[in-house]
Amino acid sequence: MTLKGKHIVLGITGSIAAYKAASLARLFIKEGAEVQIVMTPSGKEFITPVTLSALTGRPVVSEFFTANDGTWHSHVDLGMWADLMVIAPATAATIGKMANGIADNMLITTYLSMKASVMVAPAMDLDMFAHPSTTRNIEILRSYGNIIIEPAAGELASHLIGKGRMEEPEKILEAAKSFFEKGGSLSKKKVLITAGPTYEKIDPVRFIGNYSSGKMGFALAEECAARGAEVYLVAGPVSLKVNHPNIHRIDVESAEQMYQAATDIFPQMDAAILCAAVADYRPKEQVEQKIKRNDDEMTLSLVPNKDIAAVLGQMKTAQRLVGFALETNDEVANALKKMERKNLDFIVLNSLNDAGAGFRHDTNKIAILSKDGTKEDYPLKSKADVAKDIIDRIFA
Ligand code: C5P
Repeated sequence: MTLKGKHIVLGITGSIAAYKAASLARLFIKEGAEVQIVMTPSGKEFITPVTLSALTGRPVVSEFFTANDGTWHSHVDLGMWADLMVIAPATAATIGKMANGIADNMLITTYLSMKASVMVAPAMDLDMFAHPSTTRNIEILRSYGNIIIEPAAGELASHLIGKGRMEEPEKILEAAKSFFEKGGSLSKKKVLITAGPTYEKIDPVRFIGNYSSGKMGFALAEECAARGAEVYLVAGPVSLKVNHPNIHRIDVESAEQMYQAATDIFPQMDAAILCAAVADYRPKEQVEQKIKRNDDEMTLSLVPNKDIAAVLGQMKTAQRLVGFALETNDEVANALKKMERKNLDFIVLNSLNDAGAGFRHDTNKIAILSKDGTKEDYPLKSKADVAKDIIDRIFA
Protein backbone atom coordinates (compact mmCIF):
# COMPACT_ATOMS: atom_id res chain seq x y z
CA MET A 1 0.00 0.00 0.00
CA THR A 2 2.07 2.85 -1.33
CA LEU A 3 -0.27 5.65 -0.23
CA LYS A 4 -0.81 4.35 3.30
CA GLY A 5 -1.94 7.09 5.65
CA LYS A 6 -1.83 9.81 2.99
CA HIS A 7 -4.61 12.38 2.98
CA ILE A 8 -5.82 13.18 -0.52
CA VAL A 9 -8.38 15.86 -1.38
CA LEU A 10 -9.97 14.82 -4.67
CA GLY A 11 -11.62 17.73 -6.49
CA ILE A 12 -14.28 16.84 -9.05
CA THR A 13 -15.71 19.31 -11.57
CA GLY A 14 -18.47 19.25 -14.19
CA SER A 15 -17.14 17.09 -16.97
CA ILE A 16 -18.37 13.81 -18.40
CA ALA A 17 -15.05 12.37 -17.18
CA ALA A 18 -16.37 12.84 -13.59
CA TYR A 19 -17.52 9.23 -13.67
CA LYS A 20 -13.86 8.17 -13.81
CA ALA A 21 -13.24 10.04 -10.56
CA ALA A 22 -15.12 7.27 -8.72
CA SER A 23 -12.56 4.71 -9.95
CA LEU A 24 -9.77 7.10 -9.05
CA ALA A 25 -11.09 7.52 -5.48
CA ARG A 26 -11.29 3.71 -5.25
CA LEU A 27 -7.70 3.28 -6.47
CA PHE A 28 -6.40 5.82 -3.94
CA ILE A 29 -8.25 4.04 -1.13
CA LYS A 30 -6.99 0.60 -2.22
CA GLU A 31 -3.46 1.99 -1.88
CA GLY A 32 -4.20 3.03 1.71
CA ALA A 33 -5.03 6.74 1.27
CA GLU A 34 -7.84 8.62 2.98
CA VAL A 35 -9.83 10.52 0.39
CA GLN A 36 -11.96 13.61 0.90
CA ILE A 37 -14.06 14.58 -2.11
CA VAL A 38 -14.73 18.23 -2.87
CA MET A 39 -17.11 18.81 -5.81
CA THR A 40 -18.22 21.84 -7.76
CA PRO A 41 -22.00 22.26 -8.11
CA SER A 42 -21.86 21.16 -11.76
CA GLY A 43 -19.73 18.14 -10.84
CA LYS A 44 -22.80 16.82 -9.01
CA GLU A 45 -24.73 16.85 -12.31
CA PHE A 46 -22.38 14.19 -13.62
CA ILE A 47 -21.86 11.90 -10.63
CA THR A 48 -23.79 11.75 -7.38
CA PRO A 49 -22.25 12.57 -4.00
CA VAL A 50 -23.89 9.39 -2.68
CA THR A 51 -21.72 7.18 -4.90
CA LEU A 52 -18.60 9.05 -3.87
CA SER A 53 -19.25 9.23 -0.14
CA ALA A 54 -20.05 5.51 -0.15
CA LEU A 55 -16.66 4.84 -1.75
CA THR A 56 -14.64 7.13 0.49
CA GLY A 57 -16.56 6.72 3.74
CA ARG A 58 -16.62 10.50 4.15
CA PRO A 59 -19.38 12.97 3.34
CA VAL A 60 -18.72 14.86 0.12
CA VAL A 61 -18.01 18.56 0.57
CA SER A 62 -19.58 20.82 -2.00
CA GLU A 63 -21.33 23.75 -0.35
CA PHE A 64 -19.88 26.32 2.01
CA PHE A 65 -22.58 25.43 4.56
CA THR A 66 -24.84 22.48 5.29
CA ALA A 67 -28.26 24.04 4.70
CA ASN A 68 -30.24 22.28 7.46
CA ASP A 69 -27.90 22.88 10.41
CA GLY A 70 -25.70 25.75 9.21
CA THR A 71 -22.44 23.77 9.70
CA TRP A 72 -19.57 25.57 8.03
CA HIS A 73 -17.20 23.46 5.92
CA SER A 74 -13.70 24.75 6.45
CA HIS A 75 -11.62 24.92 3.30
CA VAL A 76 -8.77 26.11 5.54
CA ASP A 77 -8.88 22.88 7.56
CA LEU A 78 -8.94 20.86 4.34
CA GLY A 79 -5.93 22.81 3.10
CA MET A 80 -4.00 21.79 6.21
CA TRP A 81 -5.30 18.21 6.34
CA ALA A 82 -4.24 17.24 2.83
CA ASP A 83 -0.91 15.76 1.76
CA LEU A 84 -1.96 16.17 -1.86
CA MET A 85 -4.87 17.69 -3.77
CA VAL A 86 -5.84 16.09 -7.08
CA ILE A 87 -8.37 17.86 -9.31
CA ALA A 88 -9.65 15.27 -11.76
CA PRO A 89 -11.42 16.05 -13.98
CA ALA A 90 -10.54 19.76 -14.19
CA THR A 91 -12.71 21.69 -16.64
CA ALA A 92 -11.63 24.79 -18.57
CA ALA A 93 -13.86 26.86 -16.26
CA THR A 94 -12.27 25.50 -13.08
CA ILE A 95 -8.76 25.88 -14.49
CA GLY A 96 -9.57 29.51 -15.37
CA LYS A 97 -10.93 30.19 -11.88
CA MET A 98 -7.89 28.55 -10.26
CA ALA A 99 -5.52 30.65 -12.37
CA ASN A 100 -7.35 33.85 -11.45
CA GLY A 101 -8.47 33.20 -7.88
CA ILE A 102 -12.21 33.33 -8.62
CA ALA A 103 -13.30 31.72 -5.38
CA ASP A 104 -17.02 31.24 -6.01
CA ASN A 105 -17.26 27.60 -4.95
CA MET A 106 -15.89 25.30 -2.29
CA LEU A 107 -13.40 23.61 -4.63
CA ILE A 108 -11.71 26.89 -5.55
CA THR A 109 -11.58 28.13 -1.95
CA THR A 110 -10.06 24.79 -0.95
CA TYR A 111 -7.52 25.16 -3.77
CA LEU A 112 -6.60 28.67 -2.65
CA SER A 113 -6.15 27.49 0.96
CA MET A 114 -4.19 24.39 -0.03
CA LYS A 115 -0.87 23.87 1.78
CA ALA A 116 -0.09 20.63 -0.07
CA SER A 117 0.90 20.21 -3.72
CA VAL A 118 -1.85 20.21 -6.32
CA MET A 119 -2.21 17.92 -9.34
CA VAL A 120 -4.55 18.92 -12.12
CA ALA A 121 -5.93 16.52 -14.74
CA PRO A 122 -7.68 18.63 -17.41
CA ALA A 123 -10.66 17.21 -19.31
CA MET A 124 -12.37 19.08 -22.13
CA ASP A 125 -13.09 19.12 -25.81
CA LEU A 126 -10.10 19.44 -28.15
CA ASP A 127 -10.84 23.02 -29.25
CA MET A 128 -11.35 24.17 -25.68
CA PHE A 129 -8.07 22.53 -24.70
CA ALA A 130 -6.22 24.12 -27.64
CA HIS A 131 -7.69 27.60 -27.02
CA PRO A 132 -5.01 30.18 -26.12
CA SER A 133 -6.91 31.08 -22.96
CA THR A 134 -6.74 27.47 -21.69
CA THR A 135 -3.08 27.23 -22.68
CA ARG A 136 -2.35 30.45 -20.80
CA ASN A 137 -4.30 29.40 -17.71
CA ILE A 138 -2.50 26.05 -17.58
CA GLU A 139 0.83 27.88 -17.86
CA ILE A 140 -0.25 30.07 -14.94
CA LEU A 141 -1.06 26.96 -12.87
CA ARG A 142 2.38 25.54 -13.71
CA SER A 143 3.95 28.79 -12.55
CA TYR A 144 2.13 28.33 -9.21
CA GLY A 145 3.93 24.97 -8.95
CA ASN A 146 0.84 22.85 -9.75
CA ILE A 147 1.54 19.54 -11.45
CA ILE A 148 -0.38 19.17 -14.71
CA ILE A 149 -1.32 15.67 -15.81
CA GLU A 150 -1.57 16.21 -19.54
CA PRO A 151 -4.78 14.93 -21.11
CA ALA A 152 -4.56 12.07 -23.58
CA ALA A 153 -5.56 12.14 -27.24
CA GLY A 154 -8.50 10.02 -28.37
CA GLU A 155 -12.23 10.05 -28.89
CA LEU A 156 -13.97 12.76 -26.86
CA ALA A 157 -17.53 13.04 -25.55
CA SER A 158 -18.34 15.14 -28.62
CA HIS A 159 -17.18 12.17 -30.79
CA LEU A 160 -14.45 14.41 -32.14
CA ILE A 161 -10.95 12.98 -31.97
CA GLY A 162 -8.13 14.95 -30.39
CA LYS A 163 -6.34 15.94 -27.19
CA GLY A 164 -8.56 16.64 -24.18
CA ARG A 165 -9.50 13.27 -22.63
CA MET A 166 -8.77 13.14 -18.93
CA GLU A 167 -5.87 10.79 -18.31
CA GLU A 168 -6.97 7.33 -17.13
CA PRO A 169 -7.33 6.85 -13.33
CA GLU A 170 -4.48 4.28 -13.31
CA LYS A 171 -2.13 6.90 -14.82
CA ILE A 172 -3.23 9.55 -12.30
CA LEU A 173 -2.64 7.04 -9.50
CA GLU A 174 0.88 6.45 -10.87
CA ALA A 175 1.53 10.20 -10.88
CA ALA A 176 0.37 10.47 -7.25
CA LYS A 177 2.51 7.50 -6.22
CA SER A 178 5.59 8.89 -7.89
CA PHE A 179 4.88 12.28 -6.30
CA PHE A 180 5.00 10.67 -2.85
CA GLU A 181 7.96 8.44 -3.69
CA LYS A 182 10.07 11.32 -4.99
CA GLY A 183 9.09 14.55 -3.45
CA GLY A 184 5.95 14.06 -1.47
CA SER A 185 8.31 13.32 1.37
CA LEU A 186 8.71 17.10 1.59
CA SER A 187 5.00 17.59 2.17
CA LYS A 188 4.55 19.84 5.21
CA LYS A 189 8.34 20.06 5.72
CA LYS A 190 9.73 23.51 6.41
CA VAL A 191 12.90 24.45 4.57
CA LEU A 192 15.03 27.56 5.00
CA ILE A 193 17.03 28.61 1.95
CA THR A 194 19.48 31.51 1.79
CA ALA A 195 20.24 32.84 -1.67
CA GLY A 196 22.05 35.57 -3.56
CA PRO A 197 24.84 37.92 -2.50
CA THR A 198 24.95 40.31 0.42
CA TYR A 199 25.75 44.00 0.08
CA GLU A 200 27.90 45.56 2.77
CA LYS A 201 27.45 49.31 2.89
CA ILE A 202 30.45 51.63 2.66
CA ASP A 203 28.53 54.90 2.36
CA PRO A 204 25.02 55.80 1.12
CA VAL A 205 25.88 54.95 -2.49
CA ARG A 206 28.58 52.27 -2.35
CA PHE A 207 28.81 48.72 -1.12
CA ILE A 208 30.96 45.61 -1.16
CA GLY A 209 29.14 42.84 -3.03
CA ASN A 210 29.78 39.80 -5.20
CA TYR A 211 28.64 38.27 -8.47
CA SER A 212 26.10 35.81 -7.03
CA SER A 213 22.83 35.99 -8.99
CA GLY A 214 20.70 33.94 -6.59
CA LYS A 215 19.67 31.59 -9.43
CA MET A 216 20.76 28.39 -7.68
CA GLY A 217 19.00 29.27 -4.41
CA PHE A 218 15.82 30.31 -6.20
CA ALA A 219 15.83 27.08 -8.23
CA LEU A 220 16.15 25.14 -4.96
CA ALA A 221 13.26 27.10 -3.45
CA GLU A 222 11.01 26.37 -6.45
CA GLU A 223 11.95 22.68 -6.39
CA CYS A 224 11.30 22.27 -2.65
CA ALA A 225 7.96 24.08 -2.95
CA ALA A 226 6.96 21.97 -5.96
CA ARG A 227 7.54 18.90 -3.78
CA GLY A 228 5.21 20.17 -1.11
CA ALA A 229 7.57 22.00 1.26
CA GLU A 230 6.87 25.30 2.96
CA VAL A 231 9.90 27.34 1.94
CA TYR A 232 11.38 30.35 3.72
CA LEU A 233 13.66 32.03 1.21
CA VAL A 234 15.98 34.62 2.71
CA ALA A 235 17.23 36.48 -0.34
CA GLY A 236 20.00 39.02 -0.70
CA PRO A 237 19.64 41.74 -3.34
CA VAL A 238 18.73 39.91 -6.58
CA SER A 239 16.42 40.66 -9.48
CA LEU A 240 14.66 37.28 -9.45
CA LYS A 241 10.98 36.57 -8.86
CA VAL A 242 9.24 33.69 -7.12
CA ASN A 243 5.85 32.35 -8.15
CA HIS A 244 5.01 29.45 -5.91
CA PRO A 245 2.55 30.34 -3.11
CA ASN A 246 4.47 28.16 -0.63
CA ILE A 247 7.63 30.25 -0.93
CA HIS A 248 7.78 32.94 1.75
CA ARG A 249 10.38 35.43 0.66
CA ILE A 250 12.30 37.58 3.13
CA ASP A 251 14.42 40.20 1.37
CA VAL A 252 17.59 41.34 3.09
CA GLU A 253 20.63 43.30 2.07
CA SER A 254 23.53 42.74 4.46
CA ALA A 255 25.06 39.63 6.02
CA GLU A 256 23.90 40.86 9.43
CA GLN A 257 20.27 41.10 8.22
CA MET A 258 20.55 37.66 6.62
CA TYR A 259 21.96 36.31 9.89
CA GLN A 260 19.05 37.79 11.88
CA ALA A 261 16.41 36.40 9.53
CA ALA A 262 18.01 32.94 9.25
CA THR A 263 18.62 32.47 12.97
CA ASP A 264 15.07 33.65 13.81
CA ILE A 265 13.48 31.09 11.49
CA PHE A 266 15.85 28.14 11.86
CA PRO A 267 14.46 26.60 15.08
CA GLN A 268 11.09 25.96 13.35
CA MET A 269 12.69 24.39 10.25
CA ASP A 270 13.22 20.77 9.22
CA ALA A 271 16.13 21.66 6.96
CA ALA A 272 18.25 24.59 5.85
CA ILE A 273 20.10 24.97 2.56
CA LEU A 274 22.60 27.79 2.68
CA CYS A 275 23.23 28.83 -0.83
CA ALA A 276 23.92 32.53 -0.31
CA ALA A 277 27.31 34.01 -1.10
CA VAL A 278 27.57 35.86 2.19
CA ALA A 279 30.23 38.57 2.41
CA ASP A 280 32.91 37.49 4.86
CA TYR A 281 33.71 41.09 5.84
CA ARG A 282 31.94 44.42 6.14
CA PRO A 283 33.33 47.93 6.44
CA LYS A 284 34.13 48.71 10.06
CA GLU A 285 32.28 51.99 9.74
CA GLN A 286 29.43 53.02 7.53
CA VAL A 287 29.83 56.66 6.60
CA GLU A 288 26.65 58.78 6.67
CA GLN A 289 27.71 61.06 3.81
CA LYS A 290 29.06 60.04 0.43
CA ILE A 291 32.85 59.75 0.63
CA LYS A 292 34.45 62.47 -1.47
CA ARG A 293 37.31 61.79 -3.78
CA ASN A 294 40.70 63.24 -3.02
CA ASP A 295 44.15 62.37 -4.20
CA ASP A 296 45.22 60.49 -1.08
CA GLU A 297 45.35 56.75 -0.86
CA MET A 298 42.25 55.42 0.86
CA THR A 299 42.12 52.56 3.33
CA LEU A 300 38.94 50.72 4.16
CA SER A 301 38.96 48.81 7.43
CA LEU A 302 36.95 45.58 7.33
CA VAL A 303 35.61 43.48 10.18
CA PRO A 304 34.42 39.87 9.85
CA ASN A 305 30.73 39.05 9.48
CA LYS A 306 29.07 36.27 11.43
CA ASP A 307 29.21 32.89 9.75
CA ILE A 308 25.51 32.02 9.42
CA ALA A 309 26.20 28.40 8.49
CA ALA A 310 28.47 27.86 11.48
CA VAL A 311 25.97 29.42 13.89
CA LEU A 312 23.13 27.29 12.51
CA GLY A 313 25.47 24.30 12.81
CA GLN A 314 25.70 25.02 16.55
CA MET A 315 21.95 25.64 16.91
CA LYS A 316 21.11 22.46 15.00
CA THR A 317 18.87 19.91 16.74
CA ALA A 318 17.23 17.51 14.25
CA GLN A 319 17.53 19.74 11.17
CA ARG A 320 19.33 18.73 8.03
CA LEU A 321 21.91 21.40 7.28
CA VAL A 322 23.37 21.86 3.81
CA GLY A 323 26.05 24.32 2.73
CA PHE A 324 27.73 25.24 -0.51
CA ALA A 325 31.39 25.64 -1.27
CA LEU A 326 33.06 27.42 -4.14
CA GLU A 327 36.75 26.71 -4.07
CA THR A 328 39.60 27.69 -6.32
CA ASN A 329 42.12 25.15 -5.02
CA ASP A 330 42.19 21.84 -3.09
CA GLU A 331 38.45 21.79 -3.64
CA VAL A 332 37.46 18.53 -1.98
CA ALA A 333 39.80 18.86 1.00
CA ASN A 334 38.64 22.43 1.66
CA ALA A 335 34.97 21.53 1.28
CA LEU A 336 35.34 18.63 3.72
CA LYS A 337 36.99 20.90 6.27
CA LYS A 338 34.16 23.41 5.86
CA MET A 339 31.52 20.73 6.34
CA GLU A 340 33.14 19.65 9.59
CA ARG A 341 33.85 23.14 10.94
CA LYS A 342 30.26 24.31 10.27
CA ASN A 343 28.66 21.02 11.42
CA LEU A 344 26.90 20.51 8.05
CA ASP A 345 25.30 17.25 6.92
CA PHE A 346 26.08 17.87 3.25
CA ILE A 347 28.18 20.29 1.29
CA VAL A 348 27.58 21.03 -2.37
CA LEU A 349 30.82 21.77 -4.15
CA ASN A 350 30.70 23.86 -7.27
CA SER A 351 33.86 24.48 -9.08
CA LEU A 352 34.98 27.70 -10.73
CA ASN A 353 37.21 25.55 -12.94
CA ASP A 354 34.32 24.19 -15.00
CA ALA A 355 32.98 26.29 -17.87
CA GLY A 356 29.32 27.12 -17.34
CA ALA A 357 29.35 26.46 -13.60
CA GLY A 358 28.95 28.86 -10.72
CA PHE A 359 28.13 32.56 -10.52
CA ARG A 360 25.59 34.10 -12.90
CA HIS A 361 25.38 31.04 -15.17
CA ASP A 362 22.12 29.22 -15.84
CA THR A 363 23.98 25.92 -15.55
CA ASN A 364 26.01 24.38 -12.77
CA LYS A 365 28.28 21.40 -12.21
CA ILE A 366 28.39 20.04 -8.71
CA ALA A 367 29.60 17.30 -6.42
CA ILE A 368 27.74 16.50 -3.20
CA LEU A 369 29.82 15.46 -0.20
CA SER A 370 28.12 14.01 2.86
CA LYS A 371 29.33 13.84 6.43
CA ASP A 372 29.15 10.03 6.07
CA GLY A 373 32.05 10.29 3.66
CA THR A 374 30.25 9.80 0.33
CA LYS A 375 30.99 11.93 -2.74
CA GLU A 376 28.76 12.04 -5.77
CA ASP A 377 29.70 13.87 -8.97
CA TYR A 378 27.08 15.20 -11.35
CA PRO A 379 27.43 16.42 -14.95
CA LEU A 380 26.80 20.01 -16.10
CA LYS A 381 23.05 20.67 -15.96
CA SER A 382 20.57 23.52 -15.79
CA LYS A 383 20.25 24.96 -12.28
CA ALA A 384 16.66 23.67 -12.17
CA ASP A 385 17.92 20.10 -12.77
CA VAL A 386 20.81 20.56 -10.35
CA ALA A 387 18.22 21.60 -7.74
CA LYS A 388 16.38 18.29 -8.34
CA ASP A 389 19.63 16.32 -7.84
CA ILE A 390 20.42 18.19 -4.63
CA ILE A 391 16.95 17.67 -3.18
CA ASP A 392 16.89 13.98 -4.20
CA ARG A 393 20.25 13.48 -2.49
CA ILE A 394 19.75 15.37 0.73
CA PHE A 395 16.26 14.04 1.39
CA ALA A 396 17.01 10.47 0.19
O1 C5P B 1 33.23 29.61 4.30
P1 C5P B 1 32.48 29.74 3.02
O2 C5P B 1 31.93 31.13 2.80
O3 C5P B 1 33.19 29.27 1.81
O4 C5P B 1 31.28 28.72 3.24
C1 C5P B 1 30.28 28.60 2.31
C2 C5P B 1 29.02 28.15 2.99
O5 C5P B 1 28.79 28.85 4.21
C3 C5P B 1 27.81 28.48 2.12
O6 C5P B 1 26.84 27.51 2.37
C4 C5P B 1 27.42 29.86 2.63
O7 C5P B 1 26.06 30.14 2.34
C5 C5P B 1 27.69 29.73 4.11
N1 C5P B 1 28.08 30.99 4.76
C6 C5P B 1 27.23 31.58 5.67
N2 C5P B 1 27.60 32.72 6.34
C7 C5P B 1 28.78 33.30 6.10
C8 C5P B 1 29.65 32.72 5.17
C9 C5P B 1 29.28 31.57 4.52
O8 C5P B 1 26.13 31.04 5.88
N3 C5P B 1 29.10 34.42 6.74
